[in-house]
Formats: sequence, C-alpha cells, structure tokens
Amino acid sequence: MKNLGFTLWFTGLSGAGKTTISQGVALELKARGSRVEILDGDVVRTHLSQGLGFSKQDRDTNVCRIGFVASLLSRNQVVAIVAAISPFRDSRAQVRQMNDNFIEVYVKASLEACEQRDVKGLYALARAGKIPEFTGIDSPYEEPLNPEIVCNTQQENITESINKVIKYLETREYIRATSVSSEKPSLTA
Ligand code: ADX
Repeated sequence: MKNLGFTLWFTGLSGAGKTTISQGVALELKARGSRVEILDGDVVRTHLSQGLGFSKQDRDTNVCRIGFVASLLSRNQVVAIVAAISPFRDSRAQVRQMNDNFIEVYVKASLEACEQRDVKGLYALARAGKIPEFTGIDSPYEEPLNPEIVCNTQQENITESINKVIKYLETREYIRATSVSSEKPSLTA
C-alpha cells in the first residue's frame, strides 16, 4: 500500500458529470478513512480564482492555482479531488508535473449530450450569445490523449463511474481494497 496522498483530476465539458462523480468518489474515500478535499472549479472561482474569466490565459491561471493547492494537499497525505473543465492539454500537463501522484480522469460526454442535459442552463445562454468563450461552443475543449481513467457518462451510470475510479485506486494500491464498497446505497443517488 502506498499510503500516499494523490491528486484525482477530473476534466471534461461542463455538464459531463465531473462534480457528481467527484463527490461520489469523495464520499467513498471518506467512508474508508481517507482525508479528502474537493477543489471544484465552480467553487474555486468564488474564492481562490475570484475575478478570473474564461480566456485561455485566465483558465490556465485558474488551473495552475488549483494544481498548486492540490500539490500542497496531496503531499500531506490528503486526497485532492479536482473537478474543473481544464480544457487545455498544456495546462493539464503542467499540473501533472506539479503533482507527484497524478491521476487524470476524463469525464467523457459529447457536446450534444451535455447541451441536451444543460443542467445549469448555460449552453442555451451560450448559444444565444450571452456567455462568450463557452467551452465547446466558442472555446475549445482538448480531449485528454492518455488519461489514466475514462468515465463515459453516456454509457455508464454514476455508480459505475464512481466504482471504476475506486477500482483503479485499489488496483494501483493508492487505497486498500474492500469487498463491500460497490454495494453502498449512498452512492446510487
Ligand atoms: S476552467 O476552464 O477554468 O477549468 P472551471 O471548471 O473553473 O473552468 O469553471 C467552469 C464553470 O464555470 C462551468 O461549470 C460553468 O458553470 C461556469 N462558466 C461560466 N462561464 C463559462 C464559460 N465561458 N466556459 C465554461 N464554463 C463557464
């Protein structure tokens, strides 16, 4: 068992499921005794990254700040769970460099699927020209080329995605394997 902190970095389009999966994974890890902190883009932008916009430069700054905090946490045996669109390969590569135990999770869903879900109503606003530089519409999302884990949220449900991440962590000995985790009702909501 490595008994280390690590950084679980969820990347993907808005509405792909990053926040939901990351919260489920955090719950499971806490139930197993890990110390966990979630750094969610929407939340970080109200504090650490307040005032930043969505230009490439501002997004890179945001991602870099999150990566820095994640590295501080994970080197102190905290599991840092990041959920941020983090659309650019170069800035994801940069935060990977900053974090010793870095696990990239691509939360994959097509633009069409995310737009159809439009949980926050932002895609409609972006299409109406009311939110400029919206990821997938008029700002790019660069798919990960070699992520450690892919959660395809059009093909798997939330519980399956969470279990896939947990299984990866067990197999790579980031966490201890238990036999009952996949049956926990708290993760099916
Ligand atoms: S990132 O690109 O810098 O990684 P981050 O994950 O922090 O983005 O923030 C994305 C969230 O900001 C989205 O989930 C959405 O709620 C909101 N948002 C507001 N404007 C935009 C935009 N132009 N593009 C993407 N997300 C936006």
